[in-house]
Amino acid sequence: MSVSQQQIEESIAKYIDPYLEKDLVAAKAIRDIEINGDQVSFKVVLGFPAKGHYDKLIAELKKQVEAIDGVSAANIEVSSEITAHSVQSSLKPLEGIKNIIAVASGKGGVGKSTTAVNLALALKEEGAKVGILDADIYGPSIPRMLGIASAKPESADGKSLEPMQGHGLQAMSIGFMIDDETPMIWRGPMVTQALEQLLSDTNWTDLDYLVIDLPPGTGDVQLTLAQKVPVSGAVIVTTPQDIALLDARKGLKMFEKVEVPVLGIVENMSVHICSECGHAEPIFGQGGGERMSEDYDVDFLGALPLEMSIRTNGDEGTPSVAADPNGTVGMIYRDIARRTAAKLALQAKDYSNKFPNIVIQNN
Ligand SMILES: Nc1ncnc2c1ncn2[C@@H]1O[C@H](COP(=O)(O)OP(=O)(O)O)[C@@H](O)[C@H]1O
Ligand SMILES: [Mg+2]
Repeated sequence: MSVSQQQIEESIAKYIDPYLEKDLVAAKAIRDIEINGDQVSFKVVLGFPAKGHYDKLIAELKKQVEAIDGVSAANIEVSSEITAHSVQSSLKPLEGIKNIIAVASGKGGVGKSTTAVNLALALKEEGAKVGILDADIYGPSIPRMLGIASAKPESADGKSLEPMQGHGLQAMSIGFMIDDETPMIWRGPMVTQALEQLLSDTNWTDLDYLVIDLPPGTGDVQLTLAQKVPVSGAVIVTTPQDIALLDARKGLKMFEKVEVPVLGIVENMSVHICSECGHAEPIFGQGGGERMSEDYDVDFLGALPLEMSIRTNGDEGTPSVAADPNGTVGMIYRDIARRTAAKLALQAKDYSNKFPNIVIQNN
């Protein structure tokens, strides 16, 4: 008796994908199951970039499917198809960008920019087309971290800007528009508008993800940005210190208020790894991010150690993921990137460009 499609699906469903946290049949990722005697083939189409995960995925699925009596070999092809996901109901997605992911923190200095730039590079490493917008009006640092601080953006038509390029990312920064002399007091309302303009006047090309490094904190400026920028999901960066966690909780509330789904929390500077001996020490306490994600029912995306190389790589203009994508730190960021994008893939899709605009007026 030959093998049935149902048997194949049941065996595939025994594997729970660590990023989607569900099986691939339930996630509707399985296509074109073909059974030819004792030969089986099918495709896996993931909604998130995961090049570094494909081999393991194939091996796990092969193991399940080839364990079926009557199957001698399974031929499995994996690919990723990234779609646009919905944004705040009052806003429309931007042209050239499928998804905007906002990276936020309750306060400054927790490693928000370091996380944003490495997350962007990690998404790229996993196979996506990625851009980064440095929206931190109080301390723009992305150009420096990408090694393009002295470059200036150019405009071909005098109206729109070409994104800069750094380590394979399209990049733009409010830092190119304001200088260190710009008075702080102007950086609120005026710059919020400049930022909206910068976002929409940049010729972002064919991006799966635009990562935005938001200004730290949860004040009016941050709230306005969270309301005006069409965001598909937010990531909150925190350190394990309680005080930072309290601030991070405000960040959660802020996104809740503007109906932006929080994809999860990244805990930064989690344990200190001694560069001399490799000894790991939890300087700021342990498990805070994980506790917070349990308390508030948000996902825990991963934790980065407090490690010298993360700082020096950033300072030198080649963040850890660009410097060594397969190193220990690079792999942690890539794992976080896959998990973040998988959480986003489970969110509602955006159909605004597939249907005519229907306006319901209530007079
Ligand atoms: N995991 C880490 N290990 C070591 N240094 C880090 C780590 N994360 C960030 N840093 C360093 O800490 C400082 C603040 O990080 P940054 O990303 O600029 O924070 P923020 O954007 O939240 O103000 C920078 O010098 C950065 O290189
Ligand atoms: Mg910063």
